[in-house]
Amino acid sequence: MTATIIYGNQLAEALRQEMKEEVANLKKRGIHPRLVVILIGDNPASKSYISGKQKAADFVGIQSELISLPAETSENDLLDLIKQLNQESDVNGILVQLPLPEHIDEQLIIEAIAPTKDVDGFHPINIGKMLTNQDTFLPCTPYGILTMLKLKRIELAGKHAVIIGRSHIVGKPVGQLLLNEHATVTYCHSKTSNMKEIVQLADIVIVAVGRANMIDHSYIKSGATVIDVGINRTEDGSLTGDVDFDSVKEKAAYLTPVPKGVGPMTITMLMKNTIKAAVNQATN
Ligand code: GUN
Repeated sequence: MTATIIYGNQLAEALRQEMKEEVANLKKRGIHPRLVVILIGDNPASKSYISGKQKAADFVGIQSELISLPAETSENDLLDLIKQLNQESDVNGILVQLPLPEHIDEQLIIEAIAPTKDVDGFHPINIGKMLTNQDTFLPCTPYGILTMLKLKRIELAGKHAVIIGRSHIVGKPVGQLLLNEHATVTYCHSKTSNMKEIVQLADIVIVAVGRANMIDHSYIKSGATVIDVGINRTEDGSLTGDVDFDSVKEKAAYLTPVPKGVGPMTITMLMKNTIKAAVNQATN
């Protein structure tokens, strides 16, 4: 079997085109979605992600503003900035790019963002709503993965999904979203003892670890769907995923590439959440 490759960039482009029209219509109603992104320090990966977010926002017609502050910024100054943005009625979405410098408590910062402006879906209130299947901002990467699976009409109910990785940003929430879709969900992580045997049972494999090419064909059941969330930089500077693409593509039914897979979907869902925030705030 040779896998059908799921090009997230193509799906993302179509979604962004739809959102562009939606935003143009919202503007006619006086709703102008606006996103503020806060970057502390100058982590090169963070800068690259942010530039992708800003390009997408420009395309869709969302006004985006980057507040770039030095690495030495104090936790209190950042908290004050967030409190101020929470109060500003023309700011619909607030995103603090992670990771933050060591001296800043990430959880404290996440919890300072008004849940109604938390377009990352990281606030405990929004995580709780996601767990209980209520309408809320879904975290962007899990939301992007779910959207890809749905657009490709990949069946989820009753299927065995194995998630490799348990980060707060990707692994944990994507498992919960698939559970909400009635999948049977297993989590694997660094302490899992028989990972290969477990992954071999999966109809759907989501790999979000951050280790280049860790999953090859020997882990994959024939006909499985494999979603690669890894973004690893190789020695020659190019990007590669957590999945050994050439090996797995001979066995899987569906496979996402890196780049052009999950990444563009993540950014697109941030746009979707920002539009949702603007609409909610205008109508509530
Ligand atoms: N760093 C890596 N991914 C993300 C994300 O989705 N949101 C934020 N705020 N920071 C990140």
